[in-house]
Amino acid sequence: MTSSDQPETPRRPRHLISLDALSTAQVVRLLDRADALREEWLARHHKLDLLQGRTVINLFFENSTRTRTSFDLAAKRLGADVINFDIASSSTAKGESLVDTLHTLEAMHCDAFVVRHKENGTAEFLARHVRGTASVINAGDGNNAHPTQGLLDVYTIRRHRPDFSALRVLICGDILHSRVARSDIHALRALGVGTLRVCAPANLLPSQAELPGCEIVEDFDTALAGIDVVIMLRLQKERMEQAFVPSEQAYYARYGLDARRLRLARPDCLVMHPGPINREVEIASAVADGSQSCILEQVSNGVFVRMAVLAELLDS
Ligand code: CP
Repeated sequence: MTSSDQPETPRRPRHLISLDALSTAQVVRLLDRADALREEWLARHHKLDLLQGRTVINLFFENSTRTRTSFDLAAKRLGADVINFDIASSSTAKGESLVDTLHTLEAMHCDAFVVRHKENGTAEFLARHVRGTASVINAGDGNNAHPTQGLLDVYTIRRHRPDFSALRVLICGDILHSRVARSDIHALRALGVGTLRVCAPANLLPSQAELPGCEIVEDFDTALAGIDVVIMLRLQKERMEQAFVPSEQAYYARYGLDARRLRLARPDCLVMHPGPINREVEIASAVADGSQSCILEQVSNGVFVRMAVLAELLDS
């Protein structure tokens, strides 16, 4: 608090690499800003000029539908220019290094790099090598962090359940390979979630040290009891160097969310999934498309949350 007893305005971050670097006040400020931008966008439905004259570069070394498109839309809705850098046709294919690519693009006067890469730590590495004032936003690195997904997930929950203190949240699926799980855990804990439970086969769980504040429950039916929000995760086959499950059918039988299992949770339990979904592998179509599903709402909210992140980092 300041001497006048006003709450201190949280410091604005330069980069967004991981949610563990943000205070609760910074997280709340981003969510509040997403709310304000949502209202403004829905009222006017035309571009804002907050980031006019700014340039955002999407540097996606891994595939994406939701994150890349929503950063593109978010930046444009704030008035920025956007370059969707095409890795396949770029000089990275001739062997140009990551750092040389960064400095080359920086020389063209860019204000933000939105980076996705399969290697943990890539966004943080680029943030350390930026020479000028550009911001780096992590759009997902390996299984380490996906901070804007964590933010949009808690934003979506907050729109339905503003009080996190008694909330019981379950994250189920391939937690070992999931950057979303790690960022969701940070975001939920920052907002003071009441109960945070994780459920996965033993070989798809990271160490307890990577699951701070989480109860681990191996049986999915048991884990669902009394839950207010269930976040299902995709089996990330592209990150598996060995068979982690005997078969998709066997996995679905033990860890798939179907209508029977959903009835074990609270009757108004929210169903979430960061996408893309594997239907009838981790979630039944009837549940993914059912009345309790927030999956497409998460996608819509992703644009407002990414607008808030860009505005917070770049709006001087
Ligand atoms: N949730 C998520 O990151 O989806 P994309 O891979 O489509 O961006």
